[in-house]
Amino acid sequence: MNTRHFFHAALAIALTASACSKSESPPPPPTKPAAGATNSGGSTQVVAAKVDHAAKAKEIFATRCTPCHGAEGKGDGAASASLTPPPRNFHDPAWQSSVDDAYLEKIIKLGGAAVGKSTAMPSNPDLTDPAVISALKDYVRALGKTP
Ligand code: HEC
Repeated sequence: MNTRHFFHAALAIALTASACSKSESPPPPPTKPAAGATNSGGSTQVVAAKVDHAAKAKEIFATRCTPCHGAEGKGDGAASASLTPPPRNFHDPAWQSSVDDAYLEKIIKLGGAAVGKSTAMPSNPDLTDPAVISALKDYVRALGKTP
């Protein structure tokens, strides 16, 4: 019983304390480990990094591909007007079915020159993880499934 009373008292103190500190800024949110980042321990983080390729691809597309391909892959990025030929609309089902996954992964990894396309499409040699390249290909494929 004593323990229980102590617990309630401690809880009351804790609640009061937190109520008093309401005006203070909330603690910063826990920092999310970067996907694919190596870390010194924590198997949970390693697993999270492994399953997070889709999120990583989304992030890469938003930062790296959007300037030319547009935020939604419609070929309307800010830089697209200066490109000849301009990047196509990834939502075009006819184009989607005309290319295979290997082609998509190749142009994403090695750039347009490697597949006889415009050299304006850059290579991405720093993306050494094949799973990330594959996830980017999946991202482009997913765009093709929406109008
Ligand atoms: C500097 C501008 C630029 C950036 C950045 C860029 N691309 Fe491209 N991309 C192009 C252009 C231009 C083409 C069209 C090449 C052609 O049709 O000859 C292209 C073509 C492609 C194609 C093939 C489409 C087709 O017509 O067969 C894919 C897939 C692609 N890009 C994916 C990506 C991804 C994924 C990224 C980001 C990792 C990216 N691109 C970054 C300019 C860019």
